[in-house]
Amino acid sequence: MTVSIAKQGRVAVVTIDNPPVNASSQAVRAGLLQAVAETEADPSVDAVVLACAGRTFVAGADVREFDLPPVEPHLPDVISAIEAASKPWVAAIHGTALGGGLELAMGCHARIADATARMGLPEVTLGLVPGAGGTVRLPRLVEAELALTMIAGGKPISAEAALEAGLIDAIATGDLLEKAVALAAKLGAPRRTLEKTVIGAANAEAFAKSASDLRRKARGQVSIGAAIDAVERGLRLPADAALAEERATFLALKSSDQARALRHIFFAERATLADPRAKQTPRPVTRIGVIGGGTMGAGIASACLMRGFHVTLIERDETSLEAGANRVRGTLDSSAKRGLLPDLDAVVARFETATDYAALANADLVIEAVFEDMDVKKQVFVQLDAVTRPDAILATNTSYLDVNAIAAVLSDPSRAIGLHFFSPAHIMKLLEIVLPDAVSEDVIATAAKLSKSLAKIGVLSGVCDGFIGNRIMSAYRAEADRLLIDGATPSQVDAAMRDYGFPIGVFEMQDMAGLDIAWAMRKRRLAEGKITGAYIRIADRLCEMGRFGRKTGAGWYDYSDAGAQPSKVVLSIIAEERQALGAAGGDFADADVMPRILGAMTREAEAVLAEGIARSADDIDVVMVNGYSFPRWKGGPMFAARD
Ligand code: COA
Ligand code: NAD
Repeated sequence: MTVSIAKQGRVAVVTIDNPPVNASSQAVRAGLLQAVAETEADPSVDAVVLACAGRTFVAGADVREFDLPPVEPHLPDVISAIEAASKPWVAAIHGTALGGGLELAMGCHARIADATARMGLPEVTLGLVPGAGGTVRLPRLVEAELALTMIAGGKPISAEAALEAGLIDAIATGDLLEKAVALAAKLGAPRRTLEKTVIGAANAEAFAKSASDLRRKARGQVSIGAAIDAVERGLRLPADAALAEERATFLALKSSDQARALRHIFFAERATLADPRAKQTPRPVTRIGVIGGGTMGAGIASACLMRGFHVTLIERDETSLEAGANRVRGTLDSSAKRGLLPDLDAVVARFETATDYAALANADLVIEAVFEDMDVKKQVFVQLDAVTRPDAILATNTSYLDVNAIAAVLSDPSRAIGLHFFSPAHIMKLLEIVLPDAVSEDVIATAAKLSKSLAKIGVLSGVCDGFIGNRIMSAYRAEADRLLIDGATPSQVDAAMRDYGFPIGVFEMQDMAGLDIAWAMRKRRLAEGKITGAYIRIADRLCEMGRFGRKTGAGWYDYSDAGAQPSKVVLSIIAEERQALGAAGGDFADADVMPRILGAMTREAEAVLAEGIARSADDIDVVMVNGYSFPRWKGGPMFAARD
C-alpha cells in the first residue's frame, strides 16, 4: 500500500511508502485524501501522525510527472484537506522534507523531526516555484527573510535551524514515531498555518537586500525572480489570492524551457554512474593517502577528511609539508566556522602528515596531486608501487597527462585510475573518473563509490588530452582566441558569455586561474606536435611579458584597486597578431560571439563522444554544468544545441 493507516492508541499513523524517495506522486496524493476521509470519519481516532517509510520523508513532487499533464487530486487540494481536518495532524520528518514534502508538512498542524533531518523548498533549482502553498505558508511559520532565502535560494536547512526558526515544533530525541505520536496525542485543536497572519518582513531592509542579491545571482534564471515575486505576494496578499497566484506561476513555469533544461540535468546527474563497468563490489576504503599539499592536494585531503576518511598527506620536504598541512587546516577551520563541520576535533584527529612514502603502507587509496609533469608523476607512481599494499588503488589528479603512461610504470597497472577533481576540491561537485585501458572494474566501482561518499558527481571518462571537460574547454578557449583575430575584444567575448549565463567570461576566468598553467600545457603540446592549424600567439605573448593574470596584476585585463580594466597593451598585441595572420579584423557583432563559442564546444563534444571518451551527451552536459559553470538552466551544451 502506498499510503497505509495503523493505530497507536487513539492516534492514527498514516504512512507513505513510495520508494525511492516517497515522491508525492498520484497514488500518494489519492491515498492521503482517502486517509483524511477515513481518519475524520473514525470516532476512535483523536489525532493523526503523517510519517514515511524508507530513507526519507516526502522528498518532493515526482519530477517524472512534470512532463505530463497534472492528474487529480492535486497536491494543494490534498494539503488543504489535511489543514482543514478537525483532528490534529503531526508530520514526523526524517531524511529530507523537500518541495511538496515540506509543503505537506506545513499543511499539518505540527511538525517534529529527527535531529539529522533537512527541510527545504528546492523548486527554483528545477526552474519552478513551490506550487502547493510553500510561498504562502512558509512566511507564516518563519521570518520573511529566511522564507525568501529558502524559497528563492533553494537550499535546505537543518532540523536545528528549522526549530530555531519556528518551522518545526520539536526535534525528536530517540524514536521519532513514538515522539510524534505523543505530540499528536496532546496537541488539541488544530492550529492551522494559513490562519496565522503574516506581519511582513521584520527587517524590511535586510529582506530587500536579500531579494536584490538573489536577483543579481540569478543571472538569467527565471524561476529565482518568480520565487521572489511569489514570496512578496505571500506577504502582501490575502492567503487565498496568494495561493492562486502561486499555483498559476508554478503551472506556467513547469512547461518552460528552463524548467525542462533543469529537469534534464537533474536526471542526467543521477545517471552518470549507471554503467555496467561501475557495478562490481567496490574495495573497502577508509584510509586515503594524498601526495602533494598544493592547491589541489590540500583541497582533496580536506574533502576526504570532511567526509569521514583518514587522510595521510605526503609532501616532498618538511617546509612544503607544513605549508600543505596549514592549507588543509585553514580549509577545515573555515568550514567549521560556517557550521559545516560539527566536530572539527574528530576530523583533525583523522589527519596525518609525512614526508616519507612509507606512511602509506596501509593506505587503501592514494591520490597523487603533484606538479603537472609526466616525469614527476611517474616517479611518484614508482615510489607508490614500492610502498603500498598490492590491492591499494593508485589515482592521479592530472588535468591533461596520459593516465595510461602513468599506469604503465606500475607492476600492476590495473590498480591505477584518474580521479580528476576540480578546484576548490572540497566544494566543486564534479569528479571525472578517468579510465586507463588496464583498469580493473572493481577499481572503477570503488572510484564511483568514493565520488558518492564525497558527495560529488562522478562522470566516467576515457583517456585523452584533457579528458572530457578540459578538452572541450581548450577547444572553446582556442575559439575565443580566434574571435580576437576576427575582430572581437576580450571584454566583448566575456560580456557575451555573461549575458548567456556564465558567471564569468573565458578571458576573465583565465586571469583568475593564472595564464601560466595553460601556457606550459601549450608548450608541451606544441613540442609533441599536438597543436595543428593556425597558432594564435596572443596568450603566449602575454605570458612572455609576465602577464599571468590577477596574481601578477595583469593578464587579459589590467588590475588595480579600481578592478579590471581593458588593457591597451593587450589590444595592441591582438592588433599585431591579427596583422601577422593577415586577418582583416574590423567590427565584430556581439550577437556573433556565443554561436561561435557554443559551436566550438559542441563540435569538440561530438568528437569526444565519437571517440568514446564520454559515455553520453548527457554526461558531457553534467561535466560542463558542474565543472565549467555552463548555465545550469540551459541544460548543458548538448541539451542547448538539441533544443
Ligand atoms: N522525483 C522523482 N524521482 C526522484 C526524485 C523526485 N523528486 N528525487 C529523487 N528521485 C529519484 C532519483 O532519480 C533516483 O532514481 P534512480 O535510483 O532511479 O537513479 C532516486 O530517486 C534516488 O535519488 P538520489 O538523488 O540518487 O538519492 P539521494 O539519497 O542521494 O538523495 C534526495 C535523496 C531526496 C535528497 C534527492 O534525491 C533530492 O534532492 N531529490 C530532489 C528533491 C526535489 O528537488 N524535490 C522538489 C521537487 S519539486
Ligand atoms: P601545486 O603546485 O599547487 O601543488 C603541487 C604540490 O605537489 C606542491 O605543494 C609540491 O610541493 C608537491 N610535490 C611536488 N612533487 C612532489 C613529490 N614528488 N612528492 C610529494 N609532493 C610533491 O599544483 P596544483 O594546482 O595543486 O596541481 C596539482 C595537480 O592537480 C596537477 O597535476 C594539476 O594539473 C592538477 N589539477 C589542478 C587543478 C587546478 O585548478 N589547480 C585542477 C585539477 C587538477
